[in-house]
Amino acid sequence: MAQLAVVGAGYVGLVTAACLAEIGHQVTCIEVDEGRLCRLRAGDLPIREPGLSQLVSKHTLDGNLRFTGEYAGIAAAGFVFIAVPTPSSKDGSADTSYVLQAVDSLIPHARPGSVIVIKSTVPVGTADKIAGLASILAAGMEVVSNPEFLRQGTAVQDFMAPDRVVIGASSPHEAARVADLYAALEAPIVAVDRRSAELAKYAANALLATRISFMNEISHIAAAVHADVDDVARIVGLDRRIGPAFLKAGLGWGGSCFPKDVLALSSVAANNGCRTPILQAVYEVNELQRELAAELLMDAVRAIRDPVVAILGLAFKPNTDDVRGSPALGIAQRLLAEGVIVRAHDPFALVNANRVLPGVDCRPDPYSALEGADALLLATEWEEYSALDWVLVRETMRGKTVLDGRNALNGVFLGELGFRYWSFGRATQNNGNGLAPKVHANGVTPHADENGASPKVHRNGVFPKMDMNGVVPKVHANGTHPSIREAGV
Ligand code: UDX
Repeated sequence: MAQLAVVGAGYVGLVTAACLAEIGHQVTCIEVDEGRLCRLRAGDLPIREPGLSQLVSKHTLDGNLRFTGEYAGIAAAGFVFIAVPTPSSKDGSADTSYVLQAVDSLIPHARPGSVIVIKSTVPVGTADKIAGLASILAAGMEVVSNPEFLRQGTAVQDFMAPDRVVIGASSPHEAARVADLYAALEAPIVAVDRRSAELAKYAANALLATRISFMNEISHIAAAVHADVDDVARIVGLDRRIGPAFLKAGLGWGGSCFPKDVLALSSVAANNGCRTPILQAVYEVNELQRELAAELLMDAVRAIRDPVVAILGLAFKPNTDDVRGSPALGIAQRLLAEGVIVRAHDPFALVNANRVLPGVDCRPDPYSALEGADALLLATEWEEYSALDWVLVRETMRGKTVLDGRNALNGVFLGELGFRYWSFGRATQNNGNGLAPKVHANGVTPHADENGASPKVHRNGVFPKMDMNGVVPKVHANGTHPSIREAGV
C-alpha cells in the first residue's frame, strides 16, 4: 500500500482516486472548489459514472479515500497525481495554467523525493518543463507522465482493466516506482520517455477521431453510390489489422477530449514547425457532419410556418450527462438562429444542456418533445430511443421526417410506418419515402424531401461555422482556433 494524493476531483481525478483506493492504496484527493468538496464529503458525486459512487462510498468508509481542500493533505504522499483540466486556449493549444498552479501549490507541502505524476493531457514537453523548475529540483522531486485513457461511461472499468498503462519517466527506476502502484491490475506497462508518453495520448485520441471522420466521409460516398455505410464499416472492421471500433458514421465526435485534443495536437505540431493536413481534415469532416444535419433539417422544415424540430439526445454520447462538444447543441443553436422552435429530450443531460442553450425547450419525456414536431433528429443513440413506440411517435409528430444522426434506428421499419427516414450513408432502401433518392452532386446524403425534391447541395463551408458557447469551435488553421472551454477534466 502506498500513500498517494490526487489533485483534482473531476472526471479523471475522481475516478483515479477511487480506483487507486480500490487497488489498495491510501488516497487523499485535493479539491479546491468548495462546493464540489462539500458535495463529495457528503457522498454526493458531482459526476455520473457507473460503479464510481460505490467505490467512493466503500473507500471513504474504510478510510482509504479522503477529500480535502488543503494542499497540506499531500504531506505524507509519495506520489502526487495531477488531474486538473487543460482546456483549449483561444489559439487551440492546451492551457496548462491549472497544472502549473497545482504544481506551485503542492511544492511547499511535498515530501522530499516524492513523485509528481501527470494524468492531465498536456502539450508535449510539459512534464520536462515541470521537472526542470528550480523549485522541483530543490525539493528533489521527480516528474512522471502517466496519461489517462478513460472513456466517460466506462471510466472505472477502463481504469481497472486498461489496455495498457503508459509511464513516461526520465529513468527506468522512476518508471518502475510508478509501475509498482499498478501492480494489482496486471496490465501491460509501457515505459517510455516523458515526451513520447505525452504525444501518445494525443495520438491515440486523434487516431480514434480520424477513424470516425474517415467513416463519415465514406458515408457521403456510400450515400452517393447507393451503398450501405454500416455494411462497409462491418466489412472493413473485420480486417484484423483494422478492427471494428470507432467506425460508426453519424453526427461525429464530441466530448471533453476529442475536440480539445485534436486542436491541441495540431497546435503542438504548429509550434514545432509541422504541418497537419490530416488533423485539419479530421476536424473539418467532423464539423461538416453537424452542418449537414442542420442543413437537412432546415430543408425539411423551411417551408413550414413556425417549424418545430425535436432533438432526441443532447449528451455527446449515451450514458453520460456531459454535453461538452455535443453535436446536438451545435445543431440546435443553428436551428434556433434560423427561427426554428427546438424541443429536446435527454435522459440525463437536460440540466447541463439547458445551462448552455437556454433557448431549447427541454422536455422531461421524449413524447412530449416530439409533440407537433415537423422533424426529428436522433442525436444521441440512447437505447430507450430505439425502443420508442414509433406508432405513437407518428401520431405525436406533425411531420414525418426522421434524421437518424447516429444510424441507430430501424430505418426499414420506420419507412414502413410512413416516416421519411434519413441517415448518414445507410442503404437507400432504408429511405422511407418510397422514392428513389437523388444523388447529390457532391455525394452528400441523397435523401428526397416531402415533395420528392432533393434538398440543397451542401458543400464544405457553404454557411457560417457554428460557434456556440464554445461547443462547436470553428475550423482551425494550424494553431489559430477559437477556444473550446472545458469545465473539467
Ligand atoms: C475519449 C477516449 O476514448 C478516451 O480514451 C480518452 O481518454 C477521453 O476521450 P470519451 O470522450 O469518453 O473518451 O468518448 P468516446 O467513447 O471515445 O467517444 C467520443 C465521441 O466519438 C462521441 O461523441 C461518440 O459519439 C463518437 N463516436 C464514437 C462516433 O461518432 N463513432 C464511433 O464509432 C465511436
